[in-house]
Amino acid sequence: MFEALTPVSEMLTRNLDILSRQPLLVCGLLEDNLPGLLAEAGPAPRVFTTDFRYFQWQQAQGLTDIEFGTSPGPSAAAGLLLLMPKAKAEAEYLLAACLPLLAAGAPVFIAGDNKGGVKSAPKLLAPYCGQVNKLDSARRASLYQAELTTLPAPFALADWISRYPLEEEQLQICALPGVFSAAHLDSGSRLLLKTISSLKGRVLDFGCGAGVIGASLLKRHPELTLECIDINALALEASRATLAENQLDAKVYASDGLKQVSGKFNHIITNPPFHAGLRTFYHTTETLLSSAADYLVPGGSLILVANAFLPYPELIEKSFGHCETLAATGKFRIYRARR
Ligand SMILES: C[S@@+](CC[C@H](N)C(=O)[O-])C[C@H]1O[C@@H](n2cnc3c(N)ncnc32)[C@H](O)[C@@H]1O
Repeated sequence: MFEALTPVSEMLTRNLDILSRQPLLVCGLLEDNLPGLLAEAGPAPRVFTTDFRYFQWQQAQGLTDIEFGTSPGPSAAAGLLLLMPKAKAEAEYLLAACLPLLAAGAPVFIAGDNKGGVKSAPKLLAPYCGQVNKLDSARRASLYQAELTTLPAPFALADWISRYPLEEEQLQICALPGVFSAAHLDSGSRLLLKTISSLKGRVLDFGCGAGVIGASLLKRHPELTLECIDINALALEASRATLAENQLDAKVYASDGLKQVSGKFNHIITNPPFHAGLRTFYHTTETLLSSAADYLVPGGSLILVANAFLPYPELIEKSFGHCETLAATGKFRIYRARR
């Protein structure tokens, strides 16, 4: 899945001499074995990722110096390479989380796709670095370099939590940069919450994001036993904050699809990952639809919201033998299948 080098990494291979002068802390949009390439060219990098799937894949490759979480551990780093993430706010977050580990004068690199916001590198680095140079540009990707001149304040996760009220449910939703629905409730999730009625027993909030669905269900049915899973460390932390802020309690943990989940549930509820063009997201949802029945007690149900054009009813029918449509709007459908 992460085997092929991205165009950004291909461009970086032309700059390995400068990148491998010091062991780098690498973070951001890691989608290939760039760390392996850096390790071949010089000192092995230290990798920090918020993506549980990438973490597991690198661990399977034998890369030992990899951390998964909301921020890297406290040990010092000689330099930083940030691979530009999709959201600019996430880039700001990662710089704030990683730069306190560097000493003054340490090199800071930002690389990314030209269409993915890398051009904002000088602006992103302005609070920390004097001069920002563009080192290379090829394969529609660019590499910027700077030197850390202003030592950043110690990183505090709490400073990055944003909040918005969910008035219908009287909940306060907490989010972190780059987390789905970070500023307002998604309209698909809203329809899902409106449609779901009676629930009981053990419930899985699959792909919990900021914890909107799980927290709403628990608020309505405090007797539920809730588990929330996501692949993204910032989503998991946001869900924990949402639950805590609303005095709700659930088990929140990292899982790639259902891989780290055990036992059977009365209900699996989800607004599943969907992003046009990202093949892995379809793969996650297809795998969920084909294996969810194995994680449900007899009579248990899978309830999801999906864009109306997605071919999920066929996949659900194939696996459950039937698929009910509980609600339909121009854009969304709510599907239910019982085991
Ligand atoms: C459409 S969002 C829904 C978020 C939240 N439930 C809501 O309704 O606002 C889908 C979520 O699935 C997560 N996700 C993506 N791939 C995943 C995977 N392989 N396993 C678990 N969660 C995943 C994403 O990080 C994202 O938070």
